[in-house]
Amino acid sequence: MVDGPRPPRASRDPAKPLAGARIVVGVCGGIAAYKAAELVRLLDKAGAHVDVAMTERAQRFIGPMTFQALTRRPVFTDLFNLTEEATIGHIQLADAADLVVIAPATANGLARLAAGEAGDAVSALVLATRAPVLLAPSMNVNMWNHPLTQANVRRLVDVAGYHVVGPGEGFLACRWTGPGRLAEPADIVEAAALLLSPQDLAGVRVVVTAGPTYEAIDPARFIGNRSSGKMGVAIAAAARRRGASVRLLLGPSALPPPVGVTTTSVENAVQLGWALADATKDADVVVMTAAVADYRPANVAKEKLKRSELGGRMELELVANPDLLAELGARRGRGRRPVLVGFAAETGDVIENARKKLETKRCDLVVANDVAEPGAGFAVDTNHVTLVDREQAIEVPAGPKSEVAHRILDRAAALLAATAGVAPPAAAGAKAAAGAKAAVAGAKAAVAPKAALAPKAAVKGDERAREKGRGAPGKRAGRA
Ligand code: PMT
Repeated sequence: MVDGPRPPRASRDPAKPLAGARIVVGVCGGIAAYKAAELVRLLDKAGAHVDVAMTERAQRFIGPMTFQALTRRPVFTDLFNLTEEATIGHIQLADAADLVVIAPATANGLARLAAGEAGDAVSALVLATRAPVLLAPSMNVNMWNHPLTQANVRRLVDVAGYHVVGPGEGFLACRWTGPGRLAEPADIVEAAALLLSPQDLAGVRVVVTAGPTYEAIDPARFIGNRSSGKMGVAIAAAARRRGASVRLLLGPSALPPPVGVTTTSVENAVQLGWALADATKDADVVVMTAAVADYRPANVAKEKLKRSELGGRMELELVANPDLLAELGARRGRGRRPVLVGFAAETGDVIENARKKLETKRCDLVVANDVAEPGAGFAVDTNHVTLVDREQAIEVPAGPKSEVAHRILDRAAALLAATAGVAPPAAAGAKAAAGAKAAVAGAKAAVAPKAALAPKAAVKGDERAREKGRGAPGKRAGRA
């Protein structure tokens, strides 16, 4: 048995998995080393205790002073410096770490790690740590594509169980275009959050609808609403962070779909209905955040309607859209999967109206949302909701939509466990180890076909799908 001074890892709230986490950022010598400063700043802002280790070559691109100022801690640069080794030696850093992030992980750095070398500050602490290791590669496209680099990455994933985020594609400092860009610091932070978050939704299939619907009047005009998609996208991202397999059905929204989430773009209620019929076939949880139009124009004009022909008055005949949530509720019957979570956007008698929707739409949970309250509801980054189910109404403290999303999922997970005999979600953090394993598997699958967890590539694919789904007339026009 191997035993040592490392205390058991702390439980973590999936809404803030980086808060209080001890993260070591290892910086290798590449042109992207300057971006590590932004990464360190973001990790620090998220509440992590960040230490930085640098190779000698990294210090040619950026000075340790920058990282010392950002972390307010000494930077580990020299394995053979007696003072450094005594105060922040590589073994102490390696033992204390909850996560080690190597950014940028250069071709040379990856080769050293894959060979199990320990001759510099970064590789020594990576070899010594038992914490998860996240690699963020960055290099020239031909170096990245080289079979030896690919073999090194595979070895690091398959043999050592390390995780990989990126590289992204684009125009590189070496003037080549292709894969090799360091993943965006925000994407590296999210990958770190995923690794440190409890994976209590691992294996759970979650469908989330988000955003508005646009109901076409003519090729230029539509009836829409004020939903930005922020709340639904936050729920999709939160479920993904907790290990769920997530399908996001997104109405017209300017937001990029979250990385790692399968996104389908829809424009109107009927399209959303089709997408839902497909996505919910094997879903465990469905969260209906989308602001679906209750009515649509009875006829869509093929040509743009002309004011000169309409005169001073125009009448628009509307027909009712299907109530998608109610249809799901009716089809499913009580107490069976998927667990149905509806929203109620209300401007008065919020809880009472939410209770009515719980009954009429036959769902398990209704998120009551007073959209008249400042800082809540449409288009803002925060929300204030009450979770209404048959037994109770739980007020969620007002906060960022990213946090509110986790509280909604907490309740949905408990309801899922109750309906299906699935083990109830463990206390935050208790399944972190299982989560790390699941994430390893994800990284393996991603690396196998050559590219690692490439956030940009994933986003691009989703965007293409979104563009495809926006073929209907009147798609971007905003005048009604
Ligand atoms: O996107 P954001 O800018 O972040 O704003 C978030 C939000 C305010 C849109 C969100 O928090 C919210 O309240 N969403 C529900 C909006 C809504 O349509 O509420 P509703 O009370 O009209 O509908 C009740 C439920 O029935 C909803 O789950 C809705 O998705 C569903 N519905 C409604 C109409 C319809 N034809 N079919 C449906 O399935």
